[in-house]
Amino acid sequence: MKKLLIIGSLNLDMTVNVDHMPAVGETIISDRMHLVPGGKGANQACAAGCLRADVAMLGAVGEDTYADIQMASLQKAGVDVSRIIRRQDASTGVAFITVNSEGDNSIVVVSGANATLSCEDIDTHIDLLKEADVIMFQLEIPIETVLYGAKMGKKFGKTVILDPAPVPKDFPEELYRYVDVIKPNETELQMLTGIADIEEHLPEAADWLRKKGVKHVLVTLGEKGVYLEAEGEAACRIPALQVETVDTTAAGDSFTAAFAVMLAQGKSMKESAVFANYVSALVVTRKGAQSSIPSLEEVEDFIRQTEQMK
Ligand code: RIB
Repeated sequence: MKKLLIIGSLNLDMTVNVDHMPAVGETIISDRMHLVPGGKGANQACAAGCLRADVAMLGAVGEDTYADIQMASLQKAGVDVSRIIRRQDASTGVAFITVNSEGDNSIVVVSGANATLSCEDIDTHIDLLKEADVIMFQLEIPIETVLYGAKMGKKFGKTVILDPAPVPKDFPEELYRYVDVIKPNETELQMLTGIADIEEHLPEAADWLRKKGVKHVLVTLGEKGVYLEAEGEAACRIPALQVETVDTTAAGDSFTAAFAVMLAQGKSMKESAVFANYVSALVVTRKGAQSSIPSLEEVEDFIRQTEQMK
């Protein structure tokens, strides 16, 4: 089986459900708060594990109970957590998430130990990069660590996938050269390319990224589906599946992970994106980050049921 390696963040999510997002200066009341393991990197690892991929994670947490909750969740999903670094002098990352009645969220991340993942950590665990077939990054760890890790991944001939979330102010253009597949959402694509009204200019935005060195561009557009521009394949749109959205947290992370799992199994870019679309559609029907990630059986059932209804 091909090996996946996720290099990235682990957080404990503190999620509150509200009717509407608070405006500046507004106080609102929520009757619920949930503590759920999250973090864009850990969510990807959890999703890949739930889909029964051979997946390891490299990241950093503190010596605290939040880390224990996170480790237990990843272990339950079958992720190799042996390279997750426990820092004595930093706390586990925390995300404060507000989810409104439409299921949309806004997130503030306190990086904690995620901010300590360094190029030296990559060097220490370089055997993991050499053993992996697909290496995945997001941007909740230092950008120089991502740049170095992606550079090493490319040097070893691995498939490098980047979920550019959140886009930092100092995004280094050099990174594009080491990325095989980039998976921004609409907002991230706009921030990366500077192109306004992305929906109207998807081909131009994708071409912009490909001219910088990225081979394949996959854009998640929420209820407008997915846009895929892969090298050697005709550009295509994959429509969103009609589901009842409860909470969109981790939808993008699980989409990217599911896409990578299928790609590692030898599926085409389009087949992988179609499968990933099913996974993220299920994720948005459930609350929380890792708590919303389905098993392979649940995804297969969902695909069967959707096909039968056509
Ligand atoms: O993408 C969702 C994730 O973003 C949450 O789990 C939160 O931890 C933040 O990293």
